[in-house]
Amino acid sequence: MTATPREPASLLISGEQLKGRIKELGAEIAADYEDGDGLLMVGLLKGSTYFLADLFRSTELDVVVDFMAISSYSGDEHSGVVRIVKDLEEDVSGRDVLIVEDIVDTGLTLNYLRRNLSARGPRSLKTVTLLDRAARRIIPVELEYSGFEIPDVFVIGYGLDFQGLYRNVGEIFAVRDLPRLVNDPGLLRPSLFGKRSRRG
Ligand code: IMP
Repeated sequence: MTATPREPASLLISGEQLKGRIKELGAEIAADYEDGDGLLMVGLLKGSTYFLADLFRSTELDVVVDFMAISSYSGDEHSGVVRIVKDLEEDVSGRDVLIVEDIVDTGLTLNYLRRNLSARGPRSLKTVTLLDRAARRIIPVELEYSGFEIPDVFVIGYGLDFQGLYRNVGEIFAVRDLPRLVNDPGLLRPSLFGKRSRRG
């Protein structure tokens, strides 16, 4: 994992690293489920959609995709009290289900989701997360597949946002100055998008 110094955000995981690791995860998942009856991937909106799009194209299996959206009750972020904002359209009963997460932080969201989906009687239930920030875990959760373990730093890009921004950055950046970003959410725009601008 590289960290190129760059203020107020620095590159943590490059596009090449993401591509390589996701390909490996896809191959591992395909091998594990090859004798099954197809796989239902459950993506968590919105952050996991970018990872899911690359992962499921790397997984040579019959894959059906569905989405859920979950939110913490406002002001209660770390209580573990979450609610389903959008539920699945697919029936999970008797099926091999793989939850696709962008990042597991405290583990509260995933813990809730695993309990909720287990109660619906899947044949199997596993999780793949692109990023694991284990240092901040409040509740232990099972992670059968994990892309990268990251240090205790806020990250954006490749689906991960700050106030809805920066999901479309193709690589993952560590935010080095979170208080400045809180004051000025557009702060990273020149450094993250400027380099791709032809106008200079
Ligand atoms: P947890 O319930 O604390 O594990 O939080 C998981 C969710 O919080 C993730 O699915 C993300 O949506 C969000 N999240 C946690 N850390 C970050 C981050 O560093 N950047 C962007 N979103 C994050």
